[in-house]
Amino acid sequence: MVLVTGAAGHVGSALVRELLSEGVKVRTLVLPDEELSGLNGLDVEIVQGNILDRDALRSAMQGIDVVYHLAGIVSILPGRNDLMRMVNVVGTASVARVARESSVRRMVYVSSIHALARPPRGTPIDESVPFDPHSAAGEYDQTKAEASLAVLAEVERGLDAVLLCPTGIIGPFDFRFTSALANQLRAWMKPGWHVTVNGQFDFVDVRDVGRAMILAGRFGRRGETYIVSGERISVGRLFALVRRFAEAPGRHKGGAILVPFGLAMLAAELATIHAKLWKCPVQFTRYSLETLVSNSLIDGTKARRDLGYQPRPMADTVRDTVGWLREQAAAVPSRRAGAIRARVPDRGPSRSRPRPRVAVVTGASSGIGAATATRLGSLGYRVVLVARREDRLQELAAEIRRAGGAADVVAVDLSDPSGIRAVYDHVTGIGEGLDVLVNSAGFGWYGYASDMPVQTVGQMVAVNSSALAQLIVLFLPQMRARGRGCIINVSSIVGSFASPWSALYSATKSFADTFTRALYRELRGTGVSVCAVRPGPVLTEFYQTVSRLSEGRSIPVERFTRPETVVNAIVSLLRKPRPAVYVPRAFAVLPWLELSLGWLFDRMASLLLRRQASVA
Ligand SMILES: NC(=O)c1ccc[n+]([C@@H]2O[C@H](COP(=O)([O-])OP(=O)(O)OC[C@H]3O[C@@H](n4cnc5c(N)ncnc54)[C@H](OP(=O)(O)O)[C@@H]3O)[C@@H](O)[C@H]2O)c1
Repeated sequence: MVLVTGAAGHVGSALVRELLSEGVKVRTLVLPDEELSGLNGLDVEIVQGNILDRDALRSAMQGIDVVYHLAGIVSILPGRNDLMRMVNVVGTASVARVARESSVRRMVYVSSIHALARPPRGTPIDESVPFDPHSAAGEYDQTKAEASLAVLAEVERGLDAVLLCPTGIIGPFDFRFTSALANQLRAWMKPGWHVTVNGQFDFVDVRDVGRAMILAGRFGRRGETYIVSGERISVGRLFALVRRFAEAPGRHKGGAILVPFGLAMLAAELATIHAKLWKCPVQFTRYSLETLVSNSLIDGTKARRDLGYQPRPMADTVRDTVGWLREQAAAVPSRRAGAIRARVPDRGPSRSRPRPRVAVVTGASSGIGAATATRLGSLGYRVVLVARREDRLQELAAEIRRAGGAADVVAVDLSDPSGIRAVYDHVTGIGEGLDVLVNSAGFGWYGYASDMPVQTVGQMVAVNSSALAQLIVLFLPQMRARGRGCIINVSSIVGSFASPWSALYSATKSFADTFTRALYRELRGTGVSVCAVRPGPVLTEFYQTVSRLSEGRSIPVERFTRPETVVNAIVSLLRKPRPAVYVPRAFAVLPWLELSLGWLFDRMASLLLRRQASVA
């Protein structure tokens, strides 16, 4: 049996698939709260633990032949990152030490081409170039160089280890969408014009890296380093390949607009500041741009000669990656409902099964709530479905179970405090605590506030504001006590823009926004986050309900977003919490419009509404 750390990451997912295809028994070491979609449906033993915990490592390495060490943090952002240093350097040193003490036959460590010293352009980079933390271009490179030296120090003490230095990794199975390169490819797949910068680098298929690791485990020489390269390719050529495999025939093709390097650097600096301020992912930084113009004359002869490693052509990699990304996008609602189903096998060798993560989704009988529940079910959550229409909830629960997930139904009216209590009692009865709460239940009403039935006023405040607040306050103490949890409130763009003709609805959404933001600030550093998603018009039953309540007045909505797009934003918040996201992002301009042009809307709104009312 082999042990893979970081098995649910991009390289880990590819390596585990390669190992399983060869009939190798795999144990994986994962963090207790880790997102495991990369391992869904795979017959692997899952052990929970942290590589910083030596006891957990000792226990995980019992009976292990080869340790493939991949766990680590990748960041292209500049500046000191203590957590990355801790995990990449201290964690790797611990894995190497425990591997030596546990007498595993071999450790294979995946370092990086960027951990090696940087010879001048034109000088080939091969294995004679030493690991050098001092010539590193960024903090990540430095941690990889230091970690590699720590592994080599353990080799001196008797460990059998082999180190691999892959070039730029690209390919399918990036289930968490953390690879900046994969996200770039995804962006290029969209038709139209794309701004990019020229340059070149050596890129290698993630599946070939997995293959090279297995070969290194078998044929590598103790204490040796092997460069795992692929193909040296320009950005322009990579872009052309993506477009070739992504485009439907006859569509407007667009193309690449190459910007001068200096301008791209300036944009990278601004993107970095933005990412740091708003704590959002960054597509490119000074570091990634510099890589594209750095020495990419990389010599991978040694791995080919000594290990029998054979990388595939980059065209095959891009074709498969584009196909995989397309599959992921197409299968959004029922993703992994087919081949990849359960998070861990129903029966199997799991020594310790992960604790089921529990998610409550209100408003799960239709629209955004139903789509969110389906997705969370496919991601391995036990989903508690909440709304009034029980038949709808039962139908959805059966669908989630058929797809290998787990779901419970709590059919209650959230405008009634006893309904809110019933949700809390149900979750407490499960006994696992709550990991995720998505407050999606809500409804709107369009028309002059003076025409609004008073009963609807009470109902709207009760469901859109009061139930949301009560559920949060009920579940927060246990989330805080456990130091983890994520609450996502489905707000609306009208929460950022005082909207006549839906005045009360707009106010309830402002309530959700302000409550969310204040809690986000209040809970910083506790491990619990509260975020808001602010959609524009979404194609759900929402507008049928609105029309019913506003006695037949139609709403002029031409461009709707699909619920799955909102779900993508919700999942991205679960992975990386932020105070709020707009869907689509362009609506982020609304608060600025309110600030700068609010006075104009104050004057124009009643006129526009009179016209609209006469049309409707
Ligand atoms: N659709 C849009 O354009 C849009 C845009 C921005 C924001 N939003 C927000 O997104 C959320 C979801 O809306 P949607 O588009 O998915 O609308 P939807 O399809 O009409 O879903 C609304 C959900 O809320 C539930 N609900 C309503 N009143 C309830 C009550 N008293 N107790 C329990 N559950 C109740 C409904 O279930 P039952 O009827 O079965 O109880 C339903 O599941 C809402 O908060 C909405 O304000 C929607």
